[in-house]
Amino acid sequence: MPWRAGTAGSPIAECTAYVTLEPCGHTGKTGPCADALIAAGITRVVFARHDPHDVSGGGASKLQAAGIEVSCTPCPEAQRVSDPFCRRVTQGLPSITCKWAQTLDGKIATRSGHSQWISNETSRRVVHRIRSRMDAIITGIGTVMRDDPLLTARLPAGRPPKRVALRIVFDPAFDIPHSCQLVQTSCAIPVGTPVRTVDTMPAGRAPTIVCISDHAYRSQTVKVDSLSREGVTVIAIPEHGRTMPSLEWVARELVRRYEVTNILVEAGGGLTGTLLKAKLVGELHVFIGPRLLADDRAIDPARMFQIEHIQDGTELALRRARVLDGDVELKYRVVKP
Ligand SMILES: NC(=O)c1ccc[n+]([C@@H]2O[C@H](COP(=O)([O-])OP(=O)(O)OC[C@H]3O[C@@H](n4cnc5c(N)ncnc54)[C@H](OP(=O)(O)O)[C@@H]3O)[C@@H](O)[C@H]2O)c1
Repeated sequence: MPWRAGTAGSPIAECTAYVTLEPCGHTGKTGPCADALIAAGITRVVFARHDPHDVSGGGASKLQAAGIEVSCTPCPEAQRVSDPFCRRVTQGLPSITCKWAQTLDGKIATRSGHSQWISNETSRRVVHRIRSRMDAIITGIGTVMRDDPLLTARLPAGRPPKRVALRIVFDPAFDIPHSCQLVQTSCAIPVGTPVRTVDTMPAGRAPTIVCISDHAYRSQTVKVDSLSREGVTVIAIPEHGRTMPSLEWVARELVRRYEVTNILVEAGGGLTGTLLKAKLVGELHVFIGPRLLADDRAIDPARMFQIEHIQDGTELALRRARVLDGDVELKYRVVKP
């Protein structure tokens, strides 16, 4: 909790602290929030949700023991802020947002796979800001082969990203080339390192994790070893092939190994489609560029579905719509996967 007592001009004893989640009672990257509030001399704290986590919870009783008036007032907007954290600590799953840029007729690339650039510079600056708040960014091997992305958050000079996101590639057949940017700029991250504690890396570098099939892991040991020496982490997905459990298994593994809470997916229709079908996606973030392709062989944002009735489609709720220099930015919550 960033906290500066007495900066607003009112005596601190007359102030009420309104917070989204029960102030924590433990030392993590920073000291306990409850202790900071007690030390500041505040007399009333209102929060929107109890902390469900065994480790960090318990701050409310600490505050009460110090004579502070404490109340929990549920508020949907405030609870939404702590949803990803609560999902991680109660279900062992991260919150996943799929992001893409599309033409007005809903295509993310031409029939040949060309997609740069559908959205304008303003939209792309927004995407860098979104990346800078993520714990991990996932893409598919199709996108690596076509676009060779870097997937780092590049912000204006003087504004370092809040954290360094892990870059994750789904690549069952282990086709990723040594020469791609994600390999060439990789940096090792030891298992057990919570990603939120990683705020600096050697310039221009970030951890890269490649998720391959168990079969590829056993049959391509030379490539596994050489990529590992270059700082790439290779994870073998248990033999579910491309069925749904593999994606959920990786999502849980990212929580277990690195305490990943928020993931952004920047992939093509193949991976985005299977993530949606696996019911792992909580939000969509779409940028619409003012262009039409009108080509039925241009690429869709999500494949994998065969749906007869409109009611069987993924149901969404619009959370934000704004115009960005002629592009349109839309943010949706998945209501019914
Ligand atoms: N406009 C945009 O915002 C945007 C963003 C990203 C990409 N793109 C475009 O999208 C195109 C690439 O799309 P794409 O569909 O070919 O590639 P993709 O979605 O990036 O990757 C697809 C690959 O992911 C792997 N995969 C999919 N589901 C999986 C599962 N359940 N478990 C494990 N692995 C899984 C498969 O690898 P294997 O084939 O090895 O089995 C599959 O071929 C490019 O043209 C790119 O430019 C556009």
